[in-house]
Parts: sequence; structure tokens; C-alpha cells
Amino acid sequence: SVQSVESLSERKSALFKFEEDNLKASLKSLFTQAVQAAYPENFKEVSLNECANSGLGDYQFNDAMHLFSVVREVGGCDVKSPREVAQNIINMLPVNPFFENPSIAGPGFINVKISDSYISSKILQNFNICEPRERRVNTAENVNYPRVIVDFSSPNIAKEMHVGHLRSTIIGDSICRMLEYKNIETLRLNHVGDWGTQFGMLIEYLNDEHDDFVDTIGDLQSCYKLAKKRFDEDTEFKIRSQAAVVKLQAGDPKMLEIWENVCQTSRNEFETIYEALNVRISERGESFYNLMISGILEELEQKNIAVKSEGALCIFSSFEGTPLICRKSDGGYNYASTDLAAINHRIKYEKADWVIYVTDSGQKKHFAGIFDATERAGWLERCEKSDVRLSHVGFGLVMGEDGKRFRTRSGEVIRLKELLSEAESRCYDELKNRGTSGLSEIEMKQTARKLGIGAIKYADLQNNLSTNYVFSFDRMLDLKGNTAIYLQYAHVRVSAVLDKTQIDVQNVTPQEFRFKAKEERALALHILKFAESLDSSLQDLMPSRICDYLYTLSSLFNDFYGSCKVIGDDNEESRIILCHATASVMRRCFFILGIDPVYKL
Ligand code: ARG
Repeated sequence: SVQSVESLSERKSALFKFEEDNLKASLKSLFTQAVQAAYPENFKEVSLNECANSGLGDYQFNDAMHLFSVVREVGGCDVKSPREVAQNIINMLPVNPFFENPSIAGPGFINVKISDSYISSKILQNFNICEPRERRVNTAENVNYPRVIVDFSSPNIAKEMHVGHLRSTIIGDSICRMLEYKNIETLRLNHVGDWGTQFGMLIEYLNDEHDDFVDTIGDLQSCYKLAKKRFDEDTEFKIRSQAAVVKLQAGDPKMLEIWENVCQTSRNEFETIYEALNVRISERGESFYNLMISGILEELEQKNIAVKSEGALCIFSSFEGTPLICRKSDGGYNYASTDLAAINHRIKYEKADWVIYVTDSGQKKHFAGIFDATERAGWLERCEKSDVRLSHVGFGLVMGEDGKRFRTRSGEVIRLKELLSEAESRCYDELKNRGTSGLSEIEMKQTARKLGIGAIKYADLQNNLSTNYVFSFDRMLDLKGNTAIYLQYAHVRVSAVLDKTQIDVQNVTPQEFRFKAKEERALALHILKFAESLDSSLQDLMPSRICDYLYTLSSLFNDFYGSCKVIGDDNEESRIILCHATASVMRRCFFILGIDPVYKL
């Protein structure tokens, strides 16, 4: 069933436990110990939630009810109610720095309230760690350090990069940043579509019509369309195109030169987009794997995983569905052939512990097939480390405000360059029209760029990945609501406070960090939840969780700022520390989302 693939990609690898400084994970482990001590026979993995009602506490343990039913069924025990089970668990909770007296509510919910002294000490301990930590490198002592390959962006040569590739680029980059923040080594790969039979007709067409070269992607794209048309209509051209592919594959220098030029033209175009988005990625296109394919298919045939069927070589997966065709009946290779060679290369030669693919959800089945074949071929098994983990992160379509696929008014593919510059110029106009800011012309340009690009990224990342998302400048540039602009304003506000204070935060060592107002406590506790939010984002590869976290952080900061005086208050020192911690965590989130924070607006 499809489930086997799900559980395969979800299989927990011992290498990927991200839980340092994770408050929720620490609490969970306390409850695990308590349940183990109180009910050793009935122990199973426990769960812990945030309290829905913050009046009762901060975290809640809800397993007592279930445990009671299990214990009662087994019999031979003397508890009469879930509340009693809850009490027995509480009795076994180890003494700990996080909370003091848990309470039982309703039928047997255990609520814990994090102690103010714990929150204070943690904030003090952490508040000035603004610098990103140093990167860890693989040394003899930590050779087990995990290495992750993220395959993302991956546009196709000779075609414009489209909004789907934009999503992949933004999401993939953010996933890399989360991993890198955790000091995990990443290899960012751009699996560009630079190989295949389509290059034969393109080369022949360029040769016929353009003296072999064109220098913009727009021209390439139109040539591509015209070449396709000629290919379908003109038999002589078709035959020449097919011959060109064979020559190209055999390494004919003339063919290679034209092909290389086509790639370079496209590459230049892609580069400008990556530069505007500030995304790093290494190109390793489909052509890279070409020579590996025949050997890989042979191996799969020998292992009886790939079988001949109606002339083609197919892999029938262990779950229902159409087979993966890995060699066409004419002997040619395809998208799947390349992906099989690529995954093998990544595991075997690149020694990846985790391979993550970021594409639209339409490719879900393709990757399920590739992963299934990979597992059955035994490529995932490792003796020295735990098994290799594979994930496909699928995302929904980008829709226009009219509810249809996102296109220009005349129905064409949206050009990304124009999209990015429109975001920028809208922000610029906004800043200009406001007129009140103390920004110079240059600052205004730079700020507009950061706001615009950041807004596009955030609007994308904030969504639940699998749903289609509606691209709307008006919405993403709104000051209110869950938008990057709202977050940027909160960041500017906190930065301004830190600018204004006379207190030198680097040098204060207050004996005590005090809260007076409830808004201070709420903000401080949320700051401590950064680690758990990052871990859960990573565990499920959902950057939207970091967005939610940052949005809540900004709102809690605004609540605090709205009701607590900072500068000149007798609690100024503590409040400045809180602002400092807020700013520091905000900037980490911005970093992870790939958004440049602005400091002045
Ligand atoms: N070039 C493909 C596309 O535009 C995406 C490639 C994704 N990566 C992969 N290894 N198949 O849809």
C-alpha cells in the first residue's frame, strides 16, 4: 500500500533528533519517566500539548484518561478514576527546574505552569546570543554528523522559470536554512532539466534559424515552441532532430557547443533570480547522471525490480498504481531513469543521510515510485549509520486572485523577474507616498527591496504546503494580519527601543529578571518556545510553523509594547532584556525564512 512509502519516509532516523534546548521535549521526557515509573507494564510513547486555555497552565498532559482505560482493562489494579491515574503520574514526576505544582483538571488533565524563575533564568542565559553559532564541521569525533541533500528549484533549460519553481526555490531554501541553523551539513542541488530528446530539435532549429545562438531566455522559449511545431509538422526536421540527439549523446563537439550555449543562456537568467532572492544553490542537472543510467538500470533488472513490459523497462511498485517506466520502448531514458541514477549517486557517493525533494504535489506519485524502488534495491541500508531517510515535500499550485492558475492578463506565464520587481516597486511607492520616514533615497530603495522580496517569500512559506495558494500583492503587502510587513514593523519597533535605551545590554548582569505584567511573561515564555517550534518545523518539513511562531512572537511583542512602558520605567532593565531577546529570536526566524529584516521604516 501507499502507506509503506509514507512510513518509509517518516521512518525516524536516530541522526535526526533535533531536541536541544527544547522545552516541550524536556517536559515530555519528564512525563515519560513518570509514566514509566508509575505504570511500567502499560508504558507507551506519551504526548504533551500546549494548553488551549492559558488560564490553566502552559502545557498539558492528556494521556491519563487513556491510560486509565488500559490499566482497568488489564485488571489487577486499584485505581478508580483517571484523576487517580493522573495523581499517580504526578507523584512520580522527577524534581525539575521547569515547574512546581502540576494541577489536575476535569476528568484527569494534568496542567503545568512553567515557573517564573525558570523563564527568567533562561531568558537571561539566552538573551545575548544573537550571533549565529559557528558551523560545525565533520571531524574524526563527529563523523556521524548527518548530511542532507536538498533537491529544489530545478527549473528546465530553455524555458522560463515559473511560479512553481519560485515556490520550490523559496521553500527549499528555507528547509536548508533550518538545517544549517541546526549545524547540519546541507548540499543544495539544482536538478535542472538540461537533458533529453527535446534538445535535439532545439539544436537543429537554432542551427537552421539563428546561427546556433540566441542570448535571451525569452528568445529561447519562443524557439523552443517553434522547434516543437516544426518537429510535429516536418518529417525531415524530425529525423534530423533525432539524429542530433544521438550525436549530442555521443559527445559530438558541435552539438555539445550549441547545447552548452543554450544552458548558459538559461543559467544567466536563473542566476538573476537566485541573486534577487539571495538563494545559494549548486547546479547539477540531469545531464550529470546520464552515463550512470545504464548501469543502474542493469542493477535494478538483476535484482528483479525492473522488468520488461511491452518493450519498456518498468518498475511495478509494491503499492497500487501505474508502474514507473524507467526505459522507454524506443530504448530512450526519461525523467524517472535520471532520478533513479541520481538517488543512487546521492546515497552512495554523496553519502547523504537524508535526501529531500521539493516539487509541486503533482510529482508525489513519481517520487513514491522512486523511493519504493530505492528501498527495494537495498540502497537505503547502511551498516555504519542508521538508514537513509527520503522525503518528498510537495506543494500546491499558485493561483491568481481570479481563482484560476496564476497567469498574466493575456494568459501567459508570469515572468518571475517582473513579479519580484513589482513587489519591490509597490513597496517603494508605499514608502515614498508616506513621506514621513527619515529614510534617504538609497535607504528607501534598499528597504523596498527587502520588504518586497520578503513579502513574496513569507506569503509563500506561511501557507500550509499542500494547499494551493493565492498570489495577491494587496494581501501580502498589507500592514495588518499575518504578513511579512506586519512582522517587519514589529521588528522595527523593537529595534527602535533598543536604539533608544541608555542601558548597555551587553554589560548588564541583573541579579533578577522580573516580570510585572502578564504581557511580559507571555512574551518571555514564547521566546523560550523557539527551539520546539524549529524542531517541529524540521521534523515535518513545514516552514509554516516558523511563520506561525514568528507571527505570534510579533503579536505578543506588540501586546507588551502597547501596555508596558519600557524606556524610563523602573523595570526598564528587565524590559530591555526582554526586547533584546525578542529581537534576537525574531532575527533568527527571519534568517530561517530567508527574509532580510529591516531596522528602520
Ligand atoms: N525539472 C523538474 C520540473 O521542472 C523538477 C525536478 C525535481 N527534481 C528531481 N530530482 N526530479 O518539474
